[in-house]
Amino acid sequence: MRVAIDWGALREQAASDLQRAAAPEAVEEVRVRWLGRSGRIALALRELGKLPAEERPAAGAQGNEVRTEVEAMVAARRTALRQEALSQRLAAETMDITLPGTQPDIGHAHPLHQVWRDLVRIFGELGFAVADGPEVESDWFNFGALNIPEGHPTRDAQDSFYVERRVRPGDTRADHVSEQVLLRTQTSPVQIRTMQALAPALPVRIVAPGRVYRRDTTDATHSAVFHQIEGLLVDRGIAMSHMKGVIGEFARRLYGPSTKIRVRPSYFPFTEPSGEVDVTCAFCGGKGCRICKGTGWIEIMGCGMVHPHVLRNGGYDPEEVSGFAFGMGIDRVAQLRYGIDDLRHFLQNDLRFLEQF
Ligand code: DAH
Repeated sequence: MRVAIDWGALREQAASDLQRAAAPEAVEEVRVRWLGRSGRIALALRELGKLPAEERPAAGAQGNEVRTEVEAMVAARRTALRQEALSQRLAAETMDITLPGTQPDIGHAHPLHQVWRDLVRIFGELGFAVADGPEVESDWFNFGALNIPEGHPTRDAQDSFYVERRVRPGDTRADHVSEQVLLRTQTSPVQIRTMQALAPALPVRIVAPGRVYRRDTTDATHSAVFHQIEGLLVDRGIAMSHMKGVIGEFARRLYGPSTKIRVRPSYFPFTEPSGEVDVTCAFCGGKGCRICKGTGWIEIMGCGMVHPHVLRNGGYDPEEVSGFAFGMGIDRVAQLRYGIDDLRHFLQNDLRFLEQF
């Protein structure tokens, strides 16, 4: 009996089986079915024995060739499937490194504190150190030593919160009992405390930022708690020209190089003469606008030459030294800088407000 083996057809069948195998396990199944010990190719090769002897070598060679081909096809199919799986994974796991990350919210300085830091930095550049004093202050430091005696009208203007002092049993210090204590109404008492701490050393050159308290009914423009920064410079031969020079340089560093200042006569008990400082309005450049009420100027601080009584209370001889002082509202600087119309925003800690700065 003559058996004709159609090797070409077998190869085609193996190829189409492999094409349908869509997973490694399916490819393995196809491999066993075709190349296994009792697979289709092995069976076909066994059939060769039934061929006439002269036909066997050629048919055998053809069969081996097909087997090699099928082996190659299996290997190729495996590689193809592996590569397909890999590129599918790569596509699925792609990450876009250009996407913006999620910023953790770490918070930031309160707008008042940002201004506070700026003011301290600028005065620091001009050679002023930072000093501070207690918020619960004695009547003497807050008023008396600053040339504001009892009954002085300034005391009414700075209506105070008085603090009741409890004397601990066994505490016999006389001042504890007699001394009137209050929440400081201004940062000016730091002038006295600093001079007393430094005298007779020269120069005294400090700024003192801090909280102050007044018995005001809170509204958009009044707050019982607000912030000031005090300045004091004492040395031999200090004149008003020094004061104008320092304040002018400060104003240019805060508001820009074209800023001008003017000093108007005013009155404070602790300075003589006293002045109020205006700067050219940073919003209109001096032309006049809503913010400066058409004047082109904005008032930023009080100042003056330190009164001889104040120098003496600080431990300095007014015959030998002189000085200037100034005091400025930090809240007001911040209000102008950020265009905040209501002081109460600064103290309410509403995140919708704070997150804007
Ligand atoms: N202490 C004053 C106030 O609270 C501000 C002030 C004005 C301070 C003039 C000064 C100064 O040092 O020289 O209104």
